[in-house]
Parts: sequence; structure tokens; C-alpha cells
Amino acid sequence: MTASLADHLDAVVAGTFVRVVEHHDEIGSTNDCARELGADGPLPALVVAERQSAGRGRGGNSWWGGDGALLFSVVLDRATVPLPDDRRSLVALATGLAVRSAVVTVHPEVDVRLKWPNDLLVDDRKLCGILVEEANGRTVIGIGLNAENSLSTAPAEVRTRGVSLVDLVDSTVDRSVLLRAILRHLEAEIARLGSMDEDDRLDRRWSAHCALTGRVVAVRSHDRLTEGYCEGIDEVGALLLRTSIGRERILSGTVESR
Ligand code: BTN
Repeated sequence: MTASLADHLDAVVAGTFVRVVEHHDEIGSTNDCARELGADGPLPALVVAERQSAGRGRGGNSWWGGDGALLFSVVLDRATVPLPDDRRSLVALATGLAVRSAVVTVHPEVDVRLKWPNDLLVDDRKLCGILVEEANGRTVIGIGLNAENSLSTAPAEVRTRGVSLVDLVDSTVDRSVLLRAILRHLEAEIARLGSMDEDDRLDRRWSAHCALTGRVVAVRSHDRLTEGYCEGIDEVGALLLRTSIGRERILSGTVESR
């Protein structure tokens, strides 16, 4: 069994923007729990679980996280994320960038890339998934990072398509260190979201680590499949594809093939 994160959570409150933490040995989904937090509690709040019995991913998919996975949700007051409605998808992109920065700060030897809209990949295998949801005037950011959990015991599909830090690096993987680093980078990225400074532009910084740029990809958006050469993302977070009929902007969807 991996050591519990429970003993490290005071340091999380002391060293990050999180004001309150809830820890569970086992829970259905940290996102579901985060959505149900009382209306009057302090924010940002953090919900951490050692295990989830009903972890959720995008598009109604389930999320597998074995013993040692880093599984948590951060709850923010929607008003503290200064974005107009047509740019809300930037929260998920900013989260991906924050998690990437944190992971490469702690483990610089790992080449982490971003897959639109919000996966982290290493060698085309999924290291981390992000699920951002809005509920009751709050933004819930759910993060599942394969950290101390070896995928050698994972279901076959996860083993084929996923990857975990512990299987990649020679050094010790410490979820508490990663959690603090992610929260610090997340706070910084959220604060930068409203910035008009050209150097802060998320689309430029995100596109620099995009796993899809320069590749032909197929993206399913509702009932439509669009295939094209990926040119990164634009300032509202849309994926840019050069297709047979010109440049298309995909505002939401799932990349099906690469
Ligand atoms: C995806 O890749 O589709 C997103 C996966 C998000 C998984 C995390 S684990 C912590 C949080 N709680 C959930 O139920 N889901 C997110």
C-alpha cells in the first residue's frame, strides 16, 4: 500500500492557495464530492482521495486510478476566474499547462506533452486526465495523475494507453510533492488567465508543448469528424486544423486518432 496523503495536507494548506482540505481513503469521485461541498465553506477547497470507486472522465468515461494515483479536485469560486463565458474552456487548458509545469519541475527528465483539450501524454500515452465542471457558481477542477501507481496491475486497456511516473523515472515519486507543485502552478495559471499581457498568452505557451501540432489528426465534435493538420490552438482555446477546405477552428471535441 502507498503511504496515505493525509499526513501531508496541513503543509498543502500552509504552502498553497488552498484554504481547506477534505481527505478520503475511499470515495466515489472527488469531483462529485467537490460539487456537493457546503455553500458557505472557504474556497479554494481541495478534495483528495486515496481511491475512487466511481472516478469519472470526460464524455461519461470512467477513470481508473490504482493505489498510488494522485486523485483530487480543486473548487474555486467561479467569480475568481476572470473569464467571459466564451473562454471558460481556457480553465482546462490552463490546468493542463499547470500540471505539466509541475511534473517537469519535479521530474525534469520526463518529456510531458499536452493533448487537446486536457490530457497529458508521455510518448503518446496518457499520464494525466483533467475534468473541469461548473456547478452552483463554482468551478471544479478534477485531476487524475498516474504517479506512484505502477500500471503493471492496471486493466489491459489502461496499460496499453496509459503511463505512470513511477514506471518512467529512477527517482522516488512522491505524491505530496507533486500535489503541492501542481497547486502552486495552478494558482499562478489561474491568476494569469485574465492577463492582457502578450507574453502571458496561454495559447502560445500551451502550443509550445502541444503533442498534436504538426500531425494529421481526426477530431470528433458532436456528430462531425474533422480531419486535418494540427496548427496548435488559438486565443480562446480552439484547436486549429488545416483541412481540405481551409482552416477550421474546433471549439470542443475529442481527438480520435493521431
Ligand atoms: C479524462 O481523462 O477524461 C478526465 C479524467 C479525470 C479524472 C479525475 S480523478 C480526480 C477527479 N475525480 C473524478 O471523478 N475525475 C477526476
